[in-house]
Amino acid sequence: MTQPGEGSQEAPAGQQAAGAGREAAGNQRAVASQAARDAPEAAAARQLRVWRGDKAGGALTDYTVGAGEGEVVLDVLHRLQATQANDLAIRWNCKAGKCGSCSAEINGRPKLLCMTRLSSLPEGPITITPLRTFPVIRDLVTDVSANYDWALHVPSVAPPDGLEPGEYRMAQADIDRSQEFRKCIECWLCQDVCHVIRDHEQHKPAYAGPRYFIRHAELDMHPLDTGDRRGALRDQQGLGLCNITKCCTEVCPAGIKITDNAIIPMKERSADQRYDPLGRVLRSWRHRDGRPPCQQP
Ligand code: SF4
Ligand code: SF4
Ligand code: FES
Repeated sequence: MTQPGEGSQEAPAGQQAAGAGREAAGNQRAVASQAARDAPEAAAARQLRVWRGDKAGGALTDYTVGAGEGEVVLDVLHRLQATQANDLAIRWNCKAGKCGSCSAEINGRPKLLCMTRLSSLPEGPITITPLRTFPVIRDLVTDVSANYDWALHVPSVAPPDGLEPGEYRMAQADIDRSQEFRKCIECWLCQDVCHVIRDHEQHKPAYAGPRYFIRHAELDMHPLDTGDRRGALRDQQGLGLCNITKCCTEVCPAGIKITDNAIIPMKERSADQRYDPLGRVLRSWRHRDGRPPCQQP
């Protein structure tokens, strides 16, 4: 016997048929798309030239891999890994342009593998190589730890004496001003492309690079920071070596205007501090506690 409520759990025959049809169509689409993923002989096959090797050396290796509509370079590299080169080393995490880990060079240009659509690249073989500025670990994976070492050289925020955590107050406008620099995903593409590091081995230990110039700029704009970063930037972190080519800005996937909004203003402030004759006279007037004569006791 049918109990109350049992009938309502069963869809009418028409709806069941429609649901079954949708499910079948969905399964067909899934099978078709899986087939497209797995078939290197698919109509849209792409030629890849992938650097394979380790710190002892390596070479470009040619592959032909199937490619689906709308796919990015990381998709075809995953297919290559799954079907032809199981030991290919690639670093990636989010596949959404947010973690910064899939950086490499595509046709010689520093890019995120997960954000570079195949359709944006010219016809013909796609060359994929590791970041040239950093030592290779294996295949497309490089050792980017030098960047984390540089992070240790950036002094943190120095709030005014006597102000305890919890007592900090800042205007929203001041927070907004440096928000652009906080979008950095630490992909190191800017560090990779910067010729000061890329082409001059001797500068590597003494040049913070664009990623850390924006970190300094961000802290310099902090309304509670009492530190003066200009001297260290100029004398220890190599700001003067940057010749404003803007290559770093061009490759930044976060769209940060590294050169215009961080490096150039920092250079101007550093130069003012050292060379501005009027500023030098004014500074010599100042009392040792930093206050100008009109505010001295
Ligand atoms: S603008 Fe400066 S930091 Fe940026 S890539 Fe050029 S030299 Fe390097
Ligand atoms: S500034 Fe841009 S290019 Fe440089 S590490 Fe950050 S997100 Fe990457
Ligand atoms: S995988 Fe995270 S940015 Fe590409």
